[in-house]
Amino acid sequence: MLERLQELREEALQKVEEAVDLKSLQDIRVSYLGKKGPITEVLRGMGKMSAEERPKIGQAANDVREAIATAVDTKQAQLEKAAVEAKLAQETIDVTLPGRPVEQGNHHPLTSVVEEIEDLFLRMGYTVAEGPEVEQDYYNFEALNLPKGHPARDMQDSFYITEELLMRTHTSPVQARTMEKYKGKGPVKIICPGKVYRRDTDDATHSHQFTQIEGLVVDENIRMSDLKGTLDAFAKHMFGDEREIRLRPSFFPFTEPSVEVDVSCGICHGEGCSVCKKTGWIEILGAGMVHPNVLEMAGFDSKKYTGFAFGMGPERIAMLKYGIDDIRHFYTNDKRFLQQFKRV
Ligand code: FA5
Repeated sequence: MLERLQELREEALQKVEEAVDLKSLQDIRVSYLGKKGPITEVLRGMGKMSAEERPKIGQAANDVREAIATAVDTKQAQLEKAAVEAKLAQETIDVTLPGRPVEQGNHHPLTSVVEEIEDLFLRMGYTVAEGPEVEQDYYNFEALNLPKGHPARDMQDSFYITEELLMRTHTSPVQARTMEKYKGKGPVKIICPGKVYRRDTDDATHSHQFTQIEGLVVDENIRMSDLKGTLDAFAKHMFGDEREIRLRPSFFPFTEPSVEVDVSCGICHGEGCSVCKKTGWIEILGAGMVHPNVLEMAGFDSKKYTGFAFGMGPERIAMLKYGIDDIRHFYTNDKRFLQQFKRV
């Protein structure tokens, strides 16, 4: 029996020595020292041994068990240490490597232009009003003198959600909503920036989703000359003091008279070039005197109050200001484009 125990000890120690990972070491521990292992078996059979043999064998079995357990523990510590060292070696940080640059973002050029326009009008005493992008047909069209079936609805091809709900096609519904809130009492002096949606085919100057900024002033004695003076100040601020504006007759159902506003071409200064299509002028927005029907529908007395309104597309303004040749640059998020508009 003593020999058998010595054999077991050598065999186990040999296996411990050869173990290459924690899993095989655990298997060795279980197979030699576990309840079903050979040493436990020896100890169990001690009852059949003589009184003389028993203490010797018991002592030897315990010694063997302890030797194996110690060897397993030592080997386990070695393997664990080696594992940690291997992991550390693998994850060594090379502090001499150059760091990854942390890029700093910047404002989107469109945001900058919208904020610049907002700042200008805020300084002129306007406040900013906002409205929903999913709009009721009533505010988008009817309250703006465009009843159902009006042919001028075709001027703005729309994304309808239900018969009464659509993605707003312009920011003018915010005019109607704001006037309603003022309950027939002026003055109203607001600008409304926001996203608008049209079923336009995307090209260099058109997008199906774009930005507009609406302006509205309603008070007693508001005249066309107030509109002209305001837009002249706007054009000079955005494009430079030397720029002029001109008003051309146009049509919007919600303004009467209505105008299209052009700014003098900054490339040829009125001589005529390819940018202004040889006219010397570039269109920047639509405007006019608020139609009496629109005032009345919003609860304003059109005999007492008059007003002007305008609506511009900041993408087109930004394109003119910075010489951007394609509106799609604003939406494709090419960093090379965006990083050219860092604000200092
Ligand atoms: C309107 O939307 C009127 N609501 C503007 C207005 C307001 C007139 C108040 C009178 C009084 P219009 O459809 O012309 O008008 O659009 C106004 C501006 O939006 C245009 O001058 C242009 O700069 C811009 N715009 C129009 N369609 C697009 C488009 N598909 N992509 C980019 N910009 C556009």
